[in-house]
Amino acid sequence: MTMETATAGIKEIYSSAQIQARIKELGQEISKEFRTLEKPVVIGVMKGAFCFLADLVRHIDIESPLQIEFVRLSSYGSGTESSGNVQAPYLDLPNIKRRHILVVEDIIDSGRTAKFFLEYLRDQFDPQTLKLAAFLDKPSRRVVPMEPDYTGFQIEDLFVVGYGLDYAENYRELPFLGEMVNVEA
Ligand code: IMP
Ligand code: MG
Repeated sequence: MTMETATAGIKEIYSSAQIQARIKELGQEISKEFRTLEKPVVIGVMKGAFCFLADLVRHIDIESPLQIEFVRLSSYGSGTESSGNVQAPYLDLPNIKRRHILVVEDIIDSGRTAKFFLEYLRDQFDPQTLKLAAFLDKPSRRVVPMEPDYTGFQIEDLFVVGYGLDYAENYRELPFLGEMVNVEA
């Protein structure tokens, strides 16, 4: 299958170059604010945040080294609609009590996944700093209040894939962000 066939029905919204330029800016912003913090912990929410985290941490330049951890959360739903039910198939963090934490998410949609996870972290670890970086934000879809501290791009109510984001587990590998066209919601 050629790339062209595999991505038929996907309309590019942000190119790889546009994404990289924005992430460099975000990295600089985070670096400024985290400059003197001692050994911050960056927690990536799998699977969707894997590309964003990998690129973002390489633009964070601060005095202390970073610790990088991963969890896997899913708001269970196969199509383009997430259920209200947040699952945590992998939630195994070391003791990060009173640390400075930066959570890295692919997209904030209803806000439920981020709300669940931030509350969990506050509860378990009483972090000194707790910040949220989201590659994408769809503010018009919010069900619970949630505002990322760092946002790559705000988008309309579109279903998007690529750069880590999937449609039924496909298309995470695309280097660009695209809109799924002609998809049943
Ligand atoms: P929330 O809990 O409703 O904020 O949803 C968060 C999760 O829904 C994300 O981490 C994604 O896995 C998924 N999601 C929401 N919108 C999209 C989209 O446009 N494309 C792909 N996944 C999405
Ligand atoms: Mg998903």
